[in-house]
Amino acid sequence: SASPLMQQLIFFHDHALLILVMITVLVGYLMFMLFFNNYVNRFLLHGQLIEMIWTILPAIILLFIAFPSLRLLYLLDEINEPSVTLKSIGHQWYWSYEYSDFNNIEFDSYMIPTNELSTDGFRLLDVDNRIVLPMNSQIRILVTAADVIHSWTIPALGVKVDGTPGRLNQTNFFMNRPGLFYGQCSEICGANHSFMPIVIESVPTNYFIKWISNN
Ligand code: CUA
Repeated sequence: SASPLMQQLIFFHDHALLILVMITVLVGYLMFMLFFNNYVNRFLLHGQLIEMIWTILPAIILLFIAFPSLRLLYLLDEINEPSVTLKSIGHQWYWSYEYSDFNNIEFDSYMIPTNELSTDGFRLLDVDNRIVLPMNSQIRILVTAADVIHSWTIPALGVKVDGTPGRLNQTNFFMNRPGLFYGQCSEICGANHSFMPIVIESVPTNYFIKWISNN
């Protein structure tokens, strides 16, 4: 992860997986032991107590997943006074970006085709114009689309928002280190759906200010 929210998502995944493994092991053990069961209960017709226990106990176990899940859901939705807002518009098949907080910078961001790729570039993942954003600051993303539904998705930041024509969706993230963060469109949007990647260049704030004032 490169953001606190993605870190929380990973923690929740591990937590849910741990509970899942414990349930699988217990149920698997019980089912396996049935093969060796020699008890014969000719007069056993009902058992109210055990029925109560094995109905309520799984419900309580599920609460241990439900409450952290809800906590995370609302945490992801929180907007914490963003210092930069980036608009991101999905097109068939490229992204365009607008920094309307500053000098009204706007540009298109196309994938670099394989035959034009440099030797250190990532195939199907690099773009001609990267988004530059400051690290260690709260960033708001507004996502929409011009033609069909797209989805602005960056796994390392825990961000995944649909861009829908006629609607403006909002999300936010916080990058806690510098570097390049890659993402792809994740809503099946047509023939070249696989070829509209996203690249964020996470830089220190003074670099960002330099970049924004030179554009
Ligand atoms: Cu845009 Cu898939």
